[in-house]
Amino acid sequence: MSCAEVLVDDVVVEPCSGLKGELRVPGDKSISHRAAFLGALSDEGIRVDNFSSGEDCASTLRCLEALGFSVVRSGGRVSVSRGSGPSDPAEPLYAGNSGTTARLLCGLMSAVPGLFGVITGDGSLRGRPMGRVVEPLRSLGARIDGRDGGRLLPLSIRGARLSGGRLELRVPSAQVKTALILAGLMGGDVLTVAEPHLSRDHTEVMLEHLGVPVRRNGLSVTVYPVDRVPGGAWEVPGDMSSAAFWLVAGAVVPRSDLVVRGVCLNRGRTGLLDALRAMGCHVEVHPRSPQGGEAVGDVRVRHSNLRGIKVQPHQVPSMVDELPVLAVAASLAQGQTEIRGAGELRHKECDRIGAMAQGLSAMGVRIREVEDGWVIQGNGGAPLSPARVDSYGDHRIAMALAVGALAASGPVEIRGASCVSISYPEFFDHLKGLVS
Ligand code: S3P
Repeated sequence: MSCAEVLVDDVVVEPCSGLKGELRVPGDKSISHRAAFLGALSDEGIRVDNFSSGEDCASTLRCLEALGFSVVRSGGRVSVSRGSGPSDPAEPLYAGNSGTTARLLCGLMSAVPGLFGVITGDGSLRGRPMGRVVEPLRSLGARIDGRDGGRLLPLSIRGARLSGGRLELRVPSAQVKTALILAGLMGGDVLTVAEPHLSRDHTEVMLEHLGVPVRRNGLSVTVYPVDRVPGGAWEVPGDMSSAAFWLVAGAVVPRSDLVVRGVCLNRGRTGLLDALRAMGCHVEVHPRSPQGGEAVGDVRVRHSNLRGIKVQPHQVPSMVDELPVLAVAASLAQGQTEIRGAGELRHKECDRIGAMAQGLSAMGVRIREVEDGWVIQGNGGAPLSPARVDSYGDHRIAMALAVGALAASGPVEIRGASCVSISYPEFFDHLKGLVS
């Protein structure tokens, strides 16, 4: 049997004796969403190559098209411009599984006076918190209603002329910050957004790259109303959150040596590299030319004997999506790893703290779930146990468990693994390429 055999929606991953070679991962999902949303505010338009191949970014493009914006897609090249948008969508906008799509739409639609639309999503997204974006938008004058008083999708939005001011966010969320920045750019007044910890800043970087004024001061960002966003063109760098699976796989599978080329090295996204280094992993970074204002590089990783670490709450935002796969690295390290301050993981595509605790326990890992993270007793690199595990329909859980499976003593069956297409449709094909 090949290394990953697809059984309808389940995948059996076989242990492997070393991952070798080099690859590119899909374009960064966060940057792809933002290029599309800012393109919609531009008459000239934004054109990017290597747009994310995942379904989440396709959801963004579909919703923007339904709002009358112009979207032209040809392979990995995507151009988005104002076109005839924004106009009332004839049907509810379907954001699928994508929290970024839903939350950024809230910011954009709220700030278009008179626009009416409804946003909904799949079962997972309809269970995720929307109050965090609805409340600050309402405080600027947004007219949003929805299920559970606007805390859950579906939401209905009647656009209005929004005010400015200063908003203090309770949760560090780049999606919420970006929704508010979009509202601020389209609103009637200067808007400052302050976060408790710095979340990823791709929106700010992209605006600076396009020459739109943005004032950053520590944990706050200020934007000013603009008539339009200038156009631009660049290549989206590879997604660190997808590269993460190979970086951990390379670190934990004996005899591995691999390179992920052209990865986005934004400082708000490289926490996993720091964590792997602190665990004793050989990680090399070779810089390449920046793209769209973002640092880019090739990352090489080799199998290493890892040791346990403590991940502190302030480190979480820089690796929030990589924590499930970091838990796999911790399972195979020497000694204890404690990951705390990550309660946000319970509000992602599934409860990621619970899902990883279940999956890794089934694979013989001594992992204790706490409210805001895990305490993991590493096994010093011994093989994990064969098992049947569940992705809970969450792409990052499916891929993290697949990485654990590569370091197991027998096959691991992952239920519901086709969800990898949300961010990384090529994941199992790339795996085959690295083991052959
Ligand atoms: C994202 C921000 C993060 C991350 C998500 C994508 C973004 O969530 O987990 O996958 O593109 O802005 P937060 O909004 O909680 O920061």
